Amino acid sequence: MLILGIESSCDETAAAVLADGEELLADVINTQVATHAKYGGVVPELASRMHLEAIYPVVEEALSQAGVTLADIDGIAVTQGPGLIGSLLVGLSFAKAVSFVRKIPYVGVDHMNGHLLSVFLGQHRPAFPYIAVVASGGHSSIFRVNSAKEYLLLGRTRDDAAGEAFDKVAKLLGLAYPGGPVIGKLAEEGRGDAISFPRAWLTPDSLDFSFSGLKTAVVNFVHKHRQKGERVLPQADICASFQEAVVDVLVEKGIRAAKRENIDRIVLAGGVAANGRLRAEMARRGKEQNIEVYMPAPRFCTDNGAMIALAGYHRFLAGEGGYDYEMDVYSRVAI
Ligand code: KG4
Ligand code: ZN
Repeated sequence: MLILGIESSCDETAAAVLADGEELLADVINTQVATHAKYGGVVPELASRMHLEAIYPVVEEALSQAGVTLADIDGIAVTQGPGLIGSLLVGLSFAKAVSFVRKIPYVGVDHMNGHLLSVFLGQHRPAFPYIAVVASGGHSSIFRVNSAKEYLLLGRTRDDAAGEAFDKVAKLLGLAYPGGPVIGKLAEEGRGDAISFPRAWLTPDSLDFSFSGLKTAVVNFVHKHRQKGERVLPQADICASFQEAVVDVLVEKGIRAAKRENIDRIVLAGGVAANGRLRAEMARRGKEQNIEVYMPAPRFCTDNGAMIALAGYHRFLAGEGGYDYEMDVYSRVAI
């Protein structure tokens, strides 16, 4: 079964062609980062306009890279939500139009379902059930994943997402958007224990996250530093110490979830899972606790069409998908 996957929930227009849920024939990503970087974050209105311009060439490029035409495609998988409404609508409307004109069934895919399965795009794959820690620009959540289609939310952020915290701290320090990769790089030259930033554990058994206090602590640290008249900020130490605080909480809560659910497999996913320090620390703690840790290659951590194609493939296998053009997008996680 040949699936065309389309993703447009945030600032990446992406399309992929996946054969039988196994072989990735094409994976094209057009990122809008350079445009949004000027504003220090994603501007929704600009994002939808850019998706509109990119969607056709991106899909064409994916088909051509895969060496196929629409006549070969058995199903279209498209991100339905959560994400920016205007951005999602571009992908969904495009998918509906192609489905209608070419008589190819389509299926709506939850963006999180894509992230949860992204690890299967590599060779080191977990068995079900597993615990997944998904940390991205829009979400920081822990799931119990029972099957390719069924997953249970165990905890989520009460305020900022982990990636959002990276982006906001980067902005504060005058660094480029998106903040994650830049902070990760700078942190390599700093000390993670240089500044003691807070970790929000919430209640002892909570699997929820809160990153806004950490962000405020970094803001306060920077202001105090400036007030003292010290002009040069210890940027690398701030980055490393901030990163350490985020990593500590994500890793510890992932382990807690695994213990509570009595599952010895943890999957990292989402853009922040591309972070080298998080990957290393999760691997170390997993080993220590006899928990097997699985991580997608960094390019499958950030948004892509391949994970949407894969999640869609499993939906089609289960008999979902078709020609219902009443389907609408949704902006927030349905709970
Ligand atoms: O999954 P993703 O591409 O989009 C959303 O669904 O949100 O995640 C993007 C987020 C951004 O906040 C970015 O700063 C963060 O992932 N990110 C990273 C790294 N690469 C991307 N955070 C930390 N370290 C990285 N290497
Ligand atoms: Zn995402």
